[in-house]
Amino acid sequence: MSLHKVCSSVPHLLLSNTKLPFPSFEMPAESERLKVLVTNPEIPQEAIDLLSRDHEVILCHNVPSQRSEILEKCKGVHGILWVNHRSLNAEILDAAGPQLQVISTRSTGIDNVDVEEFKRRKIPLGNTLGALNDAVADVAVGLLLAAARRFHEGRLKIETNNWENYHLNWMLGQDLRDAVVGFFGFGGIAQTIAKRLSGFDIDSVLYTTRRRVSEEIEQKYNAKKVEFDTLLAQSDFVIIATPLTNETTGVFNATAFGKMKNTAVLVNIGRGGVVNQQDLYEALKTNQIFSAGLDVMTPEPLPLNDPLLSLPNVVLMPHVGSATTRTRTHMAIIAAHNILRGLAGEPMLSPAY
Ligand code: DGY
Repeated sequence: MSLHKVCSSVPHLLLSNTKLPFPSFEMPAESERLKVLVTNPEIPQEAIDLLSRDHEVILCHNVPSQRSEILEKCKGVHGILWVNHRSLNAEILDAAGPQLQVISTRSTGIDNVDVEEFKRRKIPLGNTLGALNDAVADVAVGLLLAAARRFHEGRLKIETNNWENYHLNWMLGQDLRDAVVGFFGFGGIAQTIAKRLSGFDIDSVLYTTRRRVSEEIEQKYNAKKVEFDTLLAQSDFVIIATPLTNETTGVFNATAFGKMKNTAVLVNIGRGGVVNQQDLYEALKTNQIFSAGLDVMTPEPLPLNDPLLSLPNVVLMPHVGSATTRTRTHMAIIAAHNILRGLAGEPMLSPAY
């Protein structure tokens, strides 16, 4: 996709009336050029081109990023485009120095960022809210269907030559039609999933959030805000689509699984830390819940000896919700615009706080 095409679709994805600041073609004098560190050299070239028209781009070379390289190269920079899920905290801000003006993550989640420290130092922080809704929703629907219809187990049956389809009740799964789908978190990603699921003739949507969404959105998705216990008890599918915060950490534990239907399917595209993974393992192993589809887990990468890998009723993906060329390019461009705007003292496209 051309740069023009990608850039022109960004406001569509993010803020409908936002005019993107296409960089001027007059190069600033060398002395006016500010320094921007990009922590991963594999970021799409479009983002590097945007930044380097007006500023000096410093690239880290190591993939995966090495903290020592970032700490060395961030000294004296004015902006940082942070392209990994590692801790972004006072250590980095101190190493960069007092001239630092802005940081943007190339991610939507900012659970790896010490946001309070940014606020304390009044350093603007950007992220890429909205850019990955479609891509993550696609993966969520994929996981939901795969877990409901036992895709992983089916593959294992084939590999071990254990076909038993002469038994009429062999490999029965869960229907999506007429199902109640419960969302833990009902922001942009969850609503995009609900939009896709409406095509599967589901019965209704329940959601648990701190604040109620607008009536218009509730009507659009036939959605109703409920207490967490009701969500657990009434949902046929439970989808975790919330960021990881102090409030959401470990909320899906043995007590929560005990309140779910034993036919329920759990999907997690938020963050692994929202789930107590040992408790999830027990719930799946003992068929307290039917199955799970996870794009996120703890830790990442998941160790090869993790017990989850021994279960037939869990479908795992290695945190690839946003992993399409188009989405990752959008995310990088939004992050680059956040930096450009921050350096210009303007509001970012996607401020993280
Ligand atoms: C995000 O951006 O937070 C997604 O988890 C993809 O990394």
